[in-house]
Amino acid sequence: MAKFKIALIVGSNRRDSLNRKLAQALAKLGAGKFDVAWTKIDDLPMYNQDLEAELPAGVVRFKAELAAADGILFVTPEHSRSVPAVLKNAIDWGARPWGRNSWAGKTAAITGTSPGAIGTAVAQQHLRQMLGVLGALVMGGEAYVTFKPDLVDDAGIVSDESTRAFLRDFTDQFAALLERLQPAQRAAA
Ligand code: FNR
Repeated sequence: MAKFKIALIVGSNRRDSLNRKLAQALAKLGAGKFDVAWTKIDDLPMYNQDLEAELPAGVVRFKAELAAADGILFVTPEHSRSVPAVLKNAIDWGARPWGRNSWAGKTAAITGTSPGAIGTAVAQQHLRQMLGVLGALVMGGEAYVTFKPDLVDDAGIVSDESTRAFLRDFTDQFAALLERLQPAQRAAA
């Protein structure tokens, strides 16, 4: 199976983000299948249509990274039962300017973690809805991870065996979906 170029987007700008830890674990679990590029979103300016006339350098960089990716993996927290503002901002920049929607035709997968039992379920649902409207092909299923203090160690290893197996399966499913959709995407490019 080919290695896929994955843009990895963490929906948190917090230094000690739990979701970044989960993303590190996923990058490790998917290492045989994915070449992961960490795609920064916390340096993007606040979306403003006035800036579209001359796109800020950070936005140009962000959209180029999305264009170069075979697939996009989102690992996001939930804020106030939706996606954090930093991620919504990135979604809007990716979608604009009109006619230059970076999400269209991209294969994507979504997961996320919070300390709550169904934490991130609503945020993931909102993100899925946005990406669908924007023309991304989002992997089905659900992947909600309840974060426990020692779930992921400093080396990015998931301590709990069943969670590790679940997350490995998630990366396998994403790779299988990319494998199925990639030829069609290449033809459309
Ligand atoms: C939260 N948190 C939270 N958790 C959740 O499961 N559902 C929610 O709606 C919210 N809402 C929310 C709003 C705001 C403004 C904050 C700061 C936090 C808690 C959240 O899951 C927790 O802070 C995680 O640590 C966030 O993930 P990162 O930033 O550590 O990756």
